[in-house]
Amino acid sequence: MAASKVPVPKALGAMEDAAAAAKKGKWGFVQFFFVLAVVLCVLLYAPRVFVLAPQGVDVVGFFAANSSTSSSGSPPPVLRQRVVDGSDKEDDDGRRRRLVLDNQVNSPCSSMGDHTICCDRSSVHTDVCFMSGDVRTDAASLSLLLFPPPGQQPNLNASSPPEERVRPYPRKWERLIMERIPEVRLRVARPEEEKKECDVRHDAPLLVMSAGGYTGNLFHSFNDGLLPAWVTSQHLRRRVVLGVLSYNPWWAGTFREIISGLSEHHVVDLVHDTRTHCFPGAIVGTRFHGILLVDAARLRDNKTIVDFHHLLASSYEAKQPAPVPETNVRRRPRLGIVSRKGTRVIENQAAVAALASSMGFDVDILETANGVPLSVWYASVSRCDALLGVHGADLTKFFFLRPGASLTQIAPLGVSAIAMDCFGVPAARMGVRYEQYEVGGNESSLARKYPPGDEVVADPEKAKRSKGWGFVARVYLGGQNVTLDLGRFRDTLAGLHAHAMLHKETGGRSRR
Ligand SMILES: *[C@@H]1O[C@H](CO)[C@@H](O)[C@H](O)[C@H]1NC(C)=O
Ligand SMILES: *[C@@H]1O[C@H](CO)[C@@H](O)[C@H](O)[C@H]1NC(C)=O
Ligand SMILES: *[C@@H]1O[C@H](CO)[C@@H](O)[C@H](O)[C@H]1NC(C)=O
Ligand SMILES: *[C@@H]1O[C@H](CO)[C@@H](O)[C@H](O)[C@H]1NC(C)=O
Ligand SMILES: *[C@@H]1O[C@H](CO)[C@@H](O)[C@H](O)[C@H]1NC(C)=O
Repeated sequence: MAASKVPVPKALGAMEDAAAAAKKGKWGFVQFFFVLAVVLCVLLYAPRVFVLAPQGVDVVGFFAANSSTSSSGSPPPVLRQRVVDGSDKEDDDGRRRRLVLDNQVNSPCSSMGDHTICCDRSSVHTDVCFMSGDVRTDAASLSLLLFPPPGQQPNLNASSPPEERVRPYPRKWERLIMERIPEVRLRVARPEEEKKECDVRHDAPLLVMSAGGYTGNLFHSFNDGLLPAWVTSQHLRRRVVLGVLSYNPWWAGTFREIISGLSEHHVVDLVHDTRTHCFPGAIVGTRFHGILLVDAARLRDNKTIVDFHHLLASSYEAKQPAPVPETNVRRRPRLGIVSRKGTRVIENQAAVAALASSMGFDVDILETANGVPLSVWYASVSRCDALLGVHGADLTKFFFLRPGASLTQIAPLGVSAIAMDCFGVPAARMGVRYEQYEVGGNESSLARKYPPGDEVVADPEKAKRSKGWGFVARVYLGGQNVTLDLGRFRDTLAGLHAHAMLHKETGGRSRR
């Protein structure tokens, strides 16, 4: 399947919708500004086209057709209830290990009993439910049913709700987008209920996630989808089946290497696949630790964002021939310049590249929105010692930098805090040297548009407070280019070069 072209998210539609809703008094003015930074970061480039209804793309049987060990044509094999390796290190002595679904420290569900349903709704970002035992899908009602073991009565508890409902997308606080995420129902089968026969029997648990929401945008694909899925299921070591809502070929094609890094099984399109799939357990929804962040203290195995980087590296490098070690130890360090189109453009990019080159860098211009597959991006970015770009979703590719490399984000007027939250903090956590270059008034194209002394250029923070969100979207994000002051930017490049000389990789890539 060809990795299809990344739709260029020009529209700021979703963001303006949300801003409009806020103005209509949905949120108070105070809360509106309280969430502004976070919301902006995550709404920035959300393309309207990918805020889709689940039935937006018809992909019946796209992956699922030859999905697994048995299918409806042949009689189901004798129950092959292998106990799945939950990678719980505590009892690693050759015995069969219990399936551990919830890897989160201090979760009410990390010690849930067998044949039960447990939901953790304590986070403001996300609800996650777990089902341990014989789980079967009912596509018609988008339900997961938990059946008690043979001969036992269901573990029905008057105090537990008859049915749990979860929208598996980590933006619980944002009603407008959550309404577009299908609701998955979970319940214990009633005593009189016949066991549904399994059309497909899986020996790994299910993780239900969404490929919808804002996922058409690269930042959101990682922030709302892939990274939370990894945080939630990495302890299962790919022995997990991804059950995807709003499944679409764009998502499956664009992220195929990462998807197979998350799971060794075929993806199941839960909405369109009408067969009964059976699992030894299920996780519905994904954990969220912060914007592009992994909080090691919340994971029982202390995994960090560096481990997520390793997942990406092994996913993309697995398919490529081993990189030829660069024998010239004194090679020039490589600077990648992420080159945007339309808005937040570096107008004197050629001069910047020439300057960098004269200062000792080999320079790669990395054009965005040109349909190049992520695997090619991975190859380009991972060989850079330094990555440079204006704030924008494409900087999510900092994940492809090896730790020890550097990221320099150019923050145009008015987007300084957003830039830091979206990419600065996570890049630093990943072990990348991070520097934020704050554009001065005379480097912004807005200085051409507004009269000298206008607060839009002279005091962006004040302008943001008085003009609001829509203005930030339209002017600071959607209507600003930069022309870097080469005298000033030379210092930044000198720092990058010195760092790169100390930390550039001299041999083949490290693997894991
Ligand atoms: C399913 O498997 C059969 C036989 O292995 C193959 O001919 C067919 O193309 C496969 N279908 C899909 C959708 O992969
Ligand atoms: C029912 O659930 C409550 C809380 O979840 C628990 O304290 C109680 O022991 C349970 N009762 C039975 C009969 O399982
Ligand atoms: C995780 O970190 C804690 C605290 O530093 C430590 O006690 C524990 O052994 C670590 N667990 C693993 C699996 O490394
Ligand atoms: C831009 O402004 C800064 C300080 O505000 C000044 O140092 C610099 O020389 C100016 N650059 C240009 C090209 O005018
Ligand atoms: C920014 O640069 C692009 C490409 O050169 C151009 O199309 C766009 O009109 C510019 N925007 C502003 C606000 O100058």
